[in-house]
Amino acid sequence: MTELALLLIAAYLIGSISFAIVISRLYGLPDPRGHGSGNPGATNVLRTGRKSAAALTLLGDALKGVAAVLLARWASEAWGLPGYAPYLAALAVFLGHLFPVFFGFQGGKGVATALGVLLALNLGVGLACAATWLLMFALTRVSSLSALVAAALAPLYGYWLVGGAAETALLVVLSAMVLARHHGNIRRLIRGEEAVFKKRS
Ligand code: G3P
Repeated sequence: MTELALLLIAAYLIGSISFAIVISRLYGLPDPRGHGSGNPGATNVLRTGRKSAAALTLLGDALKGVAAVLLARWASEAWGLPGYAPYLAALAVFLGHLFPVFFGFQGGKGVATALGVLLALNLGVGLACAATWLLMFALTRVSSLSALVAAALAPLYGYWLVGGAAETALLVVLSAMVLARHHGNIRRLIRGEEAVFKKRS
């Protein structure tokens, strides 16, 4: 159990690295918590107009999800941890992103990190969620709506493509937390006030 606790602490600490804040500082951009939607995430970094900073934020936040799952798989082999250890690590890295110890527990909405976790746990489910986000974004140009639809469908994709109880339960929990973190976006969507990204001309 000590090894499992160590793994979960490591996953939580990895998740606590907010790439939106780190990359913004490196680029000399405003702190994402103080501009746009106030969310430390790739979408809000994109609002500064620096596409490469937003892309690096997306990559970093997704890769930390991948890293935590891969670390958990390695630790499971090396330390003989139970088979559900990668799922707990997935939850821990996600919670680290939402409530980062390094940034006053004020984290992001978890979309990129959830995507990284899903891609590592099951490529098919991760790709189905990414494709849903891309399709919705192409149709609406609204990042939050795209994330909400992808998150809502994730448990169904998990059920269809994997079917296991642990996998489906994890997806329901991740999905519920992503939806809950978007409560402000949902209110703006209902009022018709959510930010829309302009089409490239
Ligand atoms: O990934 C976060 C996105 O779904 C919404 O971001 O900045 O529009 O609240 P934002």
